Amino acid sequence: MTAQLESPEAGADALLSIEGLWKVFGPKAGRVPHRPELAGLSRAELYRRTGCTAAVRDLSFDVAPGEVFVVMGLSGSGKSTLVRCLTRLIEPTAGRIVFEGEDLRAADEKRLRTLRRSKFSMVFQHFGLLPHRKVIDNVSYGLEIRGESKPDRRRRAHEVIDLVGLRGHENFYPEQLSGGMQQRVGLARALANDPDVLLFDEPFSALDPLIRREMQTEVVRLHREVGKTMVFITHDLSEALKLGDRILLLRDGAPVQLGTGDELVGAPADDYVREFVRDVPRADVLTLRWIVRQPRPDEQLDGPELGPDVLVREATRLVLEADRPVKVVADGQLLGVVGDEEILAVVADKAPESGRRLDLPAGARVDAGVTAPVDARLGTQGEAGRPVDPVRGPDRRDPA
Ligand SMILES: Nc1ncnc2c1ncn2[C@@H]1O[C@H](COP(=O)(O)OP(=O)(O)OP(=O)(O)O)[C@@H](O)[C@H]1O
Ligand SMILES: [Mg+2]
Repeated sequence: MTAQLESPEAGADALLSIEGLWKVFGPKAGRVPHRPELAGLSRAELYRRTGCTAAVRDLSFDVAPGEVFVVMGLSGSGKSTLVRCLTRLIEPTAGRIVFEGEDLRAADEKRLRTLRRSKFSMVFQHFGLLPHRKVIDNVSYGLEIRGESKPDRRRRAHEVIDLVGLRGHENFYPEQLSGGMQQRVGLARALANDPDVLLFDEPFSALDPLIRREMQTEVVRLHREVGKTMVFITHDLSEALKLGDRILLLRDGAPVQLGTGDELVGAPADDYVREFVRDVPRADVLTLRWIVRQPRPDEQLDGPELGPDVLVREATRLVLEADRPVKVVADGQLLGVVGDEEILAVVADKAPESGRRLDLPAGARVDAGVTAPVDARLGTQGEAGRPVDPVRGPDRRDPA
């Protein structure tokens, strides 16, 4: 019973591909994934019957190059276990991990060490800095292990210290820095060896809220500047929404939903997700795509125009001030209209009756032209909306 979690976009182009991954702790853990009568048990029941804990249960997903992939879940949901399994710091019980086409479960210790030093970097919750080393020596530590020359190490360390905004603090010791600054050192250290993938395990949860937000913004900026693929673990939904291109929500080690932030908020897969996203200000996450409707016969279609990916929050004023419906237009094609009612329903945080979102054909972007006739799209949308598979996300195929 492998849960199908791979994204429609990533597929073969994935940088990192996880398939049927399990981590079971406890006696004779290896039998659990392969025995349906055990694999199908809830975590609590499995523990009661076997003394085993399924920390990660049958996960499959792809991470695309350059993507920020967020794994979210409550304490104990298996996030740390998962992220450590990716580089086999924790040995998975079953499943495949393919990185750049290489099967990591087949790699020997030496190969793994090389990969961990050159391709992956980890940023930890409690910074993990070496207390007796100055900032500059903490940052260049990985390069030292890799055997790089001192001048090269120094040069690179100065570069990344600059990048994270710590210039002038090279000779400080960790204890002389605030929590936020210490985690900047952690970031610089992770970036120093120029990895392909940055793994973050709740890196900001020890920081107070203001600093935390500042660090999130910092990660967004760094991602823009260095474009690294990131797997980011958090239990904080607002952090997940701010950073994640896609978010995987775990519960008791198993996948509940994988999707973009607006998919989780606009089309929660079940009551668990609905409860999880309940307090999110929907107008800040949902776009006009989620609320666009077919024009009524008596409506005048000469109002202002907006694109389908404008956030409801950003559109609110224009829509409420206009004396006719705002047209939602992509590349010259009318997708539908949005009026006061639609906007107010979201702003007033009325939960959706069912998640539906007007999607463009697979692979099409808003600015790449819409080929299907407008009536056909609106017809399909108007009737029933899109079927939403909780782990694959909404069906993105062209309805026409
Ligand atoms: N070495 C271990 N031996 C036995 N059980 C373990 C071990 N490590 C983790 N677990 C169990 O696996 C489950 C997942 O733990 P994990 O640390 O991955 O959760 P988490 O989502 O990272 O939680 P948190 O948000 O608190 O960090 C928990 O039930 C935990 O008790
Ligand atoms: Mg953890």
